[in-house]
Amino acid sequence: MDKKFILLLVSFLSSSTALDNGLALTPPMGWLTWQRFRCIIDCNTRPNECISERLILRTADLMVSEGYLDAGYDYIGIDDCWSEFERDENQRLVANKERFPNGMKYVADYVHSKGLKFGIYGDYGTLTCGGYPGTLDYMEIDAETFGDWGVDYVKLDGCYVELELMDEGYPKFGELLNNTGRPMLYSCSWPVYQELSGITPNWDSIIKNCNMWRNYYDIQDSWYSVEYIMNYFGENSRRLATYAGPGHWNDPDMLIIGNFGLSYDQSKSHMAVWAILAAPLLISTDLEVITDQAKELLLNKDLIAINQDPLARAGIRVFKKSDIALWKREITPVLNNTTSVALAFVNHDDSGAPKFGNYTFKEMEIDTTYYYDVEFLLLSPTQSIRVHQDHINDINYIEVLVNPTGVAMLKLKPTQIVNTASIYKT
Ligand code: GLA
Repeated sequence: MDKKFILLLVSFLSSSTALDNGLALTPPMGWLTWQRFRCIIDCNTRPNECISERLILRTADLMVSEGYLDAGYDYIGIDDCWSEFERDENQRLVANKERFPNGMKYVADYVHSKGLKFGIYGDYGTLTCGGYPGTLDYMEIDAETFGDWGVDYVKLDGCYVELELMDEGYPKFGELLNNTGRPMLYSCSWPVYQELSGITPNWDSIIKNCNMWRNYYDIQDSWYSVEYIMNYFGENSRRLATYAGPGHWNDPDMLIIGNFGLSYDQSKSHMAVWAILAAPLLISTDLEVITDQAKELLLNKDLIAINQDPLARAGIRVFKKSDIALWKREITPVLNNTTSVALAFVNHDDSGAPKFGNYTFKEMEIDTTYYYDVEFLLLSPTQSIRVHQDHINDINYIEVLVNPTGVAMLKLKPTQIVNTASIYKT
């Protein structure tokens, strides 16, 4: 068979099957405009904040110089409000001419020159949520345009379109993206619009056709909002975890760390739970003015490693008792069939003093076949964790003291040690 024919065959096969772009084998990491920069389009009064070439270029520079790219944050994406209100004479989307004076390909090229990947936003409906042109009647053209610009990541929102059309339209657009020959990570908003309207999403199809998808309401800049999303994911985590895996992830929305609404403890809880959930880690903050504390948290190697763990199993909320929620994720290394586990105890009580909790391995659903090596993460001086392991007497429990709205976190790694009378670690 000659080479051309094989290529043709491959492209025929891939265009006739669902999304198969080989992307997002672990949860995507990057930076996105929306949460912090919204639809700010007035560059005269807010030159440093408006959705513009300047914002993307300066952020791309900082992602590299400040170590975000090295830590794994390799996408930089523009959300809504980047385009002109009118398409051009060929019906192609056009980047706003004042804010993107050199066009979108220039921005993509710059991003690529920095070793980053470029993301953009569209909407499956007639308009984007912010009122800019939507993709509904222009799917082929928009997929091609994104491909031509060198886009690596497309978020397709779902405003201004019938929910019933989504089951067909979202896979169709994914296929069109694939057909461009350029691998583009595909972030769908399909299930959130359906689920919030009481329609049961077609999960088999979503998993097959999207690399990630929004499940719930937009995150806002407050602990209230983070908790609201945590509670939803907590209540549904055993179901949602079954949808996640290499190439396809639930998305509880962007990280708001570095902005205005969270205390340091709350920021830790946010990052910890997103790590356990195997959530995409999409920073949305101004990297020029971020505090060292917030930056260190976003760059925390242990949390990122949990988020990106190669077992690729999303974690669950095991329980929420007396305001302490236990989040747990199975991670590497694995000893025979026993995985390591990452545990995050989030204290939802804001009453002032750190809160005490004491839990057996059984109620935490932790396998007691092995003893575990213990590693503490994110502990602050007002917190403590004590792990008691005694298989002989079958007394295994963890005691925690957790700051109000904070998190106490640890990793347990199974070891070969058996028949040791008891092991404490404080
Ligand atoms: C919706 C999405 C947000 C953001 C805005 C943009 O609300 O859920 O993430 O993209 O639209 O208008």
